[in-house]
Amino acid sequence: MRLIHRDLISTIVPVLVVAGLMGLAFHSFARAEEYPADTARGKAVYQRHCEACHGAGGWGDGPDAKALKVAPANFHRFKSFLKSDEELLRTIEHGVVFSPMHSWRGQLTDGEMQDVVAYVRLLSQQAH
Ligand code: HEC
Repeated sequence: MRLIHRDLISTIVPVLVVAGLMGLAFHSFARAEEYPADTARGKAVYQRHCEACHGAGGWGDGPDAKALKVAPANFHRFKSFLKSDEELLRTIEHGVVFSPMHSWRGQLTDGEMQDVVAYVRLLSQQAH
């Protein structure tokens, strides 16, 4: 009886450990798939294409903002802050009608758009 018990433990424990490791590996893999965005690349895209309107800090106060009839979004406002990454991504991809915020589809790759959303998120969490 005791022998069987010990055998059982020595089989089950490694199996559980392996299963746990596989689960962990899969978990991080799944997360990477879901959110592969890179804020460093996003920052480069932002500085090149977005900063003139949205401002270096994302406050909607870039040098080109004054000349616009529709003010660029201030990413720190709750209105923007509460939007999901998906919503922001859709806006970047398709633009906002009747506003200077045109569609970036074709100019930015899917990856660049995701990276820039991640960077906008980062900006919106930073104080002045
Ligand atoms: C010519 C100026 C201009 C440029 C360049 C520009 N935007 Fe915009 N953006 C705007 C304006 C204006 C709005 C606000 C439209 C509105 O009021 O609905 C806006 C809105 C947005 C929104 C929506 C925010 C919200 O709360 O819904 C996102 C996200 C955004 N811009 C991201 C970007 C990114 C990323 C880039 C660079 C790839 C970029 N913008 C470049 C002018 C610009």
